[in-house]
Amino acid sequence: TNQQYEFIQVTEPRPGVGQITLNRPKALNALSTPLITELNHALQSLQSSPTTSAILLTGSEKAFAAGADIKEMAPLTFSSAYTQSFIESWSNLTQTLKKPLIAAVSGHALGGGCELALMADILYCTKTANFGQPEIKLGTIPGAGGSQRLTRAIGKAKAMELILTGKSFSGEEAERWGVAARSFAGYEELMSESLRTAEVIAGYSKVAVQAAKEVVNKSQDLGLRDGVEFERRVFHALFGSEDQKIGMRAFAEKKKAEWKHQ
Ligand code: HXC
Repeated sequence: TNQQYEFIQVTEPRPGVGQITLNRPKALNALSTPLITELNHALQSLQSSPTTSAILLTGSEKAFAAGADIKEMAPLTFSSAYTQSFIESWSNLTQTLKKPLIAAVSGHALGGGCELALMADILYCTKTANFGQPEIKLGTIPGAGGSQRLTRAIGKAKAMELILTGKSFSGEEAERWGVAARSFAGYEELMSESLRTAEVIAGYSKVAVQAAKEVVNKSQDLGLRDGVEFERRVFHALFGSEDQKIGMRAFAEKKKAEWKHQ
């Protein structure tokens, strides 16, 4: 399914798995507005594609993304950024995405690149990946959720230190601190394990996968009591799906479930 994009590539490496590869190598995948526009478009297409069940987002071995495009941002003024709602389109990237998004991070994931990785549902990385929010060094601050998502992921103490000093952290630390679900010794392993996970998820009922993602994400916005109640409502709702019947019947009959995704 390769398309007409300039800064990204869209492929289907496995049935049900859509892969988006950031591809602006001369700028270490710096996230310019045209790149983000393409990324938004590709994510929306994969979201609406009936054959895609899970999405893998990656960069190159050298860079996931080295941040928002500094050369594009340099001349911006307050009023142009404010009136054009600069960066707001980034929020669309994942907020409307119901399918699971796995980020496979190798090399630099700095500034907006780190923030983009933090938007994924599952983050995998190499042990030597280079994460950070270096915006302070440029006289600015994270602008695509870094101060919020990183702080939720690793706590205020570490997030404050990282954001105020701009110092980076490794993929190994990302795993230890709970930013990354897993970290891998090498790039090949990162990519094969990321694909494997995407494939596993793509093998389940789409209804159940969407519901699972929805309830876990609610935990980030709701208090525990409301969150548990929300989960229970969605859990109840799934008894209305065909796939719940199919899954539980297959277990009893010791067969493989053949999902109808309904
Ligand atoms: C524009 C960038 C870029 C960026 C790298 N390049 N990062 N261009 N925006 N964020 C360009 C360089 O200018 C250079 O272009 C080419 O990519 C290769 O980069 P080098 O610096 O030569 O590579 P290297 O020496 O290997 O150093 C890699 C690096 C460094 C450590 C990642 O490039 C770097 O510090 N980049 C900036 C990282 C950063 O500050 N990110 C946060 C941005 S602010 P030429 O033309 O010279 O070859 C941000 C705000 C987010 O993200 C707010 C909301 C989204």
